[in-house]
Amino acid sequence: MSPDTPPLELVAPSTELLPPDPAETRLAALYDAGPPGTRHLRVNMVSAVDGAAWGPDHRSGSINDAADLRVFRVLRALADVVLVGAGTARVERYTTLKRPRGLEHLCSGAPLELAVVTRHGHLPERVLGDRHRPWVVTGRAGAPPAAAAVGADRVIEVPGPEGDGHVDLAAALDALAERGMTRVLSEGGPRLLGTMLAAGVVDELCVTTTPELVGPGPGRIIAGHGPLGASSGPPVPARLGHLLVAPGSGTLIARWEIDRAASAALLP
Ligand SMILES: NC(=O)c1ccc[n+]([C@@H]2O[C@H](COP(=O)([O-])OP(=O)(O)OC[C@H]3O[C@@H](n4cnc5c(N)ncnc54)[C@H](OP(=O)(O)O)[C@@H]3O)[C@@H](O)[C@H]2O)c1
Repeated sequence: MSPDTPPLELVAPSTELLPPDPAETRLAALYDAGPPGTRHLRVNMVSAVDGAAWGPDHRSGSINDAADLRVFRVLRALADVVLVGAGTARVERYTTLKRPRGLEHLCSGAPLELAVVTRHGHLPERVLGDRHRPWVVTGRAGAPPAAAAVGADRVIEVPGPEGDGHVDLAAALDALAERGMTRVLSEGGPRLLGTMLAAGVVDELCVTTTPELVGPGPGRIIAGHGPLGASSGPPVPARLGHLLVAPGSGTLIARWEIDRAASAALLP
């Protein structure tokens, strides 16, 4: 644990101070997602106060902070697989993932897997440069280039009804679960989150709001077209699971439970 790890204060649904804890026992309990084997999709995103989803360098790393990192480490420890869109894998320079050091007691024992969602199947070199290959979730058009890059055994081909590289995200989660990856942590990005919400597969949305403004330019944590992007349906309900505050910085860390049925009802 870093010496800069800040205390956090639980302010809803009850109040409690969470001092820095190398074992992160209390935080892990707060982010418990049910018994092992329960399929669960959690999305973790960060936003500036003005809604910006990335900083001037086009990366989310420039708008997160030590309080966000504290929870980020626990979420990675609890996950079987991190699911990201290809855009995020490129911009955020994903490589092979490692379990957060010191939190091994929270982990399943298996390596933390990376799964990249792509229509085109072209992956950044950095995610290919290691012996532990990522999983690739793609449609019909993306499968051949993806198989050439990572091997057919790491490609999850789940074409959606629309064809054209579209991915059936519910089938993708089933396929990950069949391979033992039931605890799915998505780290974005905004276009993947838009399609996941519209597909009605998101159980939980964790949003950190960091105390800064980036100004005009960056997009929000959700992007894309379709029912959510076009705001053609009613807003999708979200229920507050808990809210943490970093007393020092004012960073807000919320866990929202998503009404999947309502979200799915927005599909055209
Ligand atoms: N604030 C945050 O928490 C946060 C988190 C992550 C990323 N970001 C920021 O977001 C920006 C990137 O945004 P983005 O919207 O491009 O990210 P993204 O959603 O990760 O990437 C979009 C790409 O992912 C693939 N993809 C996404 N959804 C898909 C689906 N349903 N089916 C098939 N392919 C799908 C496509 O890849 P192909 O083009 O390969 O087909 C698409 O072009 C970066 O600046 C990054 O720093 C912010």
